[in-house]
Amino acid sequence: MKVKPKPPEVPIPVLPSPPLPTEIDFVEASVSLRYEDVFQWIRPNEVSDVRWRDGAYEFICHNGVMLRVSVLAAGIFRLRYSPDGVFQPDFSYAIDPAFEPEKVVVRLEERDGEYLLDSGALQVVVSKADLKVKFYDQDDRVLCEDAAGFSAKRTILKGWCALRMEKKCHKKEVFFGLGDKSCGTNLSGKKFENWCSDSFAFGRETDPLYRAIPFYYALNQGVAYGIFLDNSFRTHFDFDSEASGDTCFYAEGGELNYYFLHGPGLDDVARTYAQLTGTHELPPSWALGYHQCRWSYHPDSHVREIAAGFRERQIPCDAIYLDIDYMDGYRCFTWDKKAFPNPKALVDDLREMGFQTVTMIDPGIKEDANYEVYRDGLAQNRFLYTSDGVVAKAPVWPGFCAFPDFTNPEVRQWWGTLYESLYKDIGIAGFWNDMNEPAVFHVNHKTLPDNVMHHHDGLPCSHRKAHNIYGQQMNRSSWEGFQTLQPEKRPFLLSRASFSGGQRFSAIWTGDNCSDWEHLQIANIQCQRLAISGFSFCGTDIGGFAGNAEGELFVRWLQLGVFHPLMRVHSIGKHATGDGLPAEEAELIDPLLHISDQEPWSFGEKWTDLAKKAIELRYCLLPCLYSAMWLHTLDGSPVLRHLAFADANDPKLWDVERDFLFGEHLLISPVVQPKVQRQGVYLPKGNWYYFWTGQPGNGEVFVNVMPDQIPFFVREGAVLPVYPTRQHTGEAIAELTLYVYYKNGLETSHLYEDLGEGYAHQAGMFSLKVFETEGKNGTFSLRQRKEGEYNPEYSKVKIYLVGFPTFVKKCAADGVEIPIKEIKLRDRSLYTLNLKPEFEKVEWEG
Ligand code: GLC
Repeated sequence: MKVKPKPPEVPIPVLPSPPLPTEIDFVEASVSLRYEDVFQWIRPNEVSDVRWRDGAYEFICHNGVMLRVSVLAAGIFRLRYSPDGVFQPDFSYAIDPAFEPEKVVVRLEERDGEYLLDSGALQVVVSKADLKVKFYDQDDRVLCEDAAGFSAKRTILKGWCALRMEKKCHKKEVFFGLGDKSCGTNLSGKKFENWCSDSFAFGRETDPLYRAIPFYYALNQGVAYGIFLDNSFRTHFDFDSEASGDTCFYAEGGELNYYFLHGPGLDDVARTYAQLTGTHELPPSWALGYHQCRWSYHPDSHVREIAAGFRERQIPCDAIYLDIDYMDGYRCFTWDKKAFPNPKALVDDLREMGFQTVTMIDPGIKEDANYEVYRDGLAQNRFLYTSDGVVAKAPVWPGFCAFPDFTNPEVRQWWGTLYESLYKDIGIAGFWNDMNEPAVFHVNHKTLPDNVMHHHDGLPCSHRKAHNIYGQQMNRSSWEGFQTLQPEKRPFLLSRASFSGGQRFSAIWTGDNCSDWEHLQIANIQCQRLAISGFSFCGTDIGGFAGNAEGELFVRWLQLGVFHPLMRVHSIGKHATGDGLPAEEAELIDPLLHISDQEPWSFGEKWTDLAKKAIELRYCLLPCLYSAMWLHTLDGSPVLRHLAFADANDPKLWDVERDFLFGEHLLISPVVQPKVQRQGVYLPKGNWYYFWTGQPGNGEVFVNVMPDQIPFFVREGAVLPVYPTRQHTGEAIAELTLYVYYKNGLETSHLYEDLGEGYAHQAGMFSLKVFETEGKNGTFSLRQRKEGEYNPEYSKVKIYLVGFPTFVKKCAADGVEIPIKEIKLRDRSLYTLNLKPEFEKVEWEG
């Protein structure tokens, strides 16, 4: 046999490595790439042409860079940049399909060296020399201006892979938002990344976390604006971290496509962002009750014990969760038949006791030829493929899994049908989508590889672009499935990962935190930040997921949870062993595993009583929370707000981390440290009443902190609606109590009520009570106006008047004088009376 001669060895030329780009390395787009050119950076040069095309003004530069500016409302400008004059198809998973641009008359004016676009509320000036923009409000105040402005970099391997915007950071400009970050509330001086990441036992500096929300607020001399970068690639935000006087954001691919949202208030920005990206709909009322969860309540007898534990101790609770162990070997949509032989009987019995059952679903579908979901998924091409055309697989809890392509409308529809047995037949009331970053068990690369391909609703792309919206689209698939399966029910879905706009499909919890005081502080910050970033329906693992809580920490966390729209206790628990995890991860988890229970009665009698009181307070304040959620669905007002929302001109509020605004009129000052007996609180403008004593105050105040009380304040003039405590939200409400707070002047409050389930409210079956209070010249009055056809079930209303400055001599309800009932407190009096719910006016005279 002849041996083929070896080809002669040809030396491979060694090319000089290209210099790293610096500011001066910017080259014109027209320069053709030579073989050794790895980088190309481009920055706009002079504008050569301006034209109106497809609803936007296009500014075209000599070197091919293009900017499209569209005005979607007087206060919403959209800017899209292309480095080479080519725009990708206009598509977004973040923007609410229900968003309709307003018809705005916009003037384009050409001036010396610049173009001006004016919507009335907002003006943008585009420089002819270099395409830099400046935003002005109607009083000609500069709100925001480009520093270096737009630039883009491309490499041979990745194409355009750094689409960048640099803006000036004004002196004393402060920044909020960005959704998921665990650091202090003011983002100034820090930098961040957005890439949905499984972050077990994350800390204050961990970044990125589970969600990607590329939206921030800026407050510049008391005037607010917002920037939403609608780009699902990995994105980066830098709020002058190097003290260079610049802020910067950039995306690792796609398009530099951002929305500029005009305030002038922070709350205006919040509402405008909600207008663009949508809100969660009104949840079923049980979803706002207290929820008990653990990894895992297993088997069914243990679930029943937990349920009985609540009812025996008369501790209110509306939902019990089943973590992954209810499944057969972590196969989604199946049951462990040994541990849960009759799931329907369990769910029915729990419902009979007033509990809803919530179960977990993961996106990873176990590779197992005998598992129907996997088989069907394969047969019907439901899973993600790699660019080589094979089904992408990676290990999660059940071992190697395939992952549905939720960006394919057919897959979404298929996924929705998989819930039929759980949701319709067995009666599971809500679902919990976990691991949907998507997370996979790989120590370094915690998700699917970049070469995994996604349908992306007909605009195919790699995982680099689809990673951040994977969880959001899983939630959309589940949500749309629930709507199809039981259109008469309000769905409840809780998710770990999401992206901007994902608030339309799920509530959010903040992932795997730890049982320590620092994590209680982080929980507080994260929920404030999530709420102002579109996700009002949020909460944390109360008590901490990893590690052991102790009584005081648990109770203080529960008290904070009273003011988080999702109030759920969750912890790793005994069942977790780290089994199934790669050895390196199991080792990491080991010290954090805990064996102590985390039910409200797990810490001894003293703490049980305090935990019970905290949960009862939640049920008392449900009308306040429900009304805040209603307002949120109506106009996007966040349920929780950073204190700067109360007065953007007060710099003392900018760096507040602990205290926050809740609903219409409450200011919450949670206890986030051990052994606190007295707490100093800085109150924003106006007078506030300390809820527990009725004591009015303003500015800097100190309150005595009792173990059973979370400090909170009520705005003067407010009407605070309170229900009696109940064991669950299905129980009847016998009476409504209104705490009415004196103010010299006017104030308005709202109470929204409906059936708490279904959609009859959309056809008028709701009750909206508008309360107007007015105090002047020794008198005070409360007017009630009702809208809607629904009449709440209670037949009595009790009113407490708090803070009337003198002795009340006379009181009349709807013109009829009634005897005054005075309740003497230590240094003041409360005045109380009972009325029929339909009263119109109450007057007090001093
Ligand atoms: C993830 C979730 C956690 C859950 C666990 C087991 O770590 O974040 O909440 O208990 O998986 O399913």
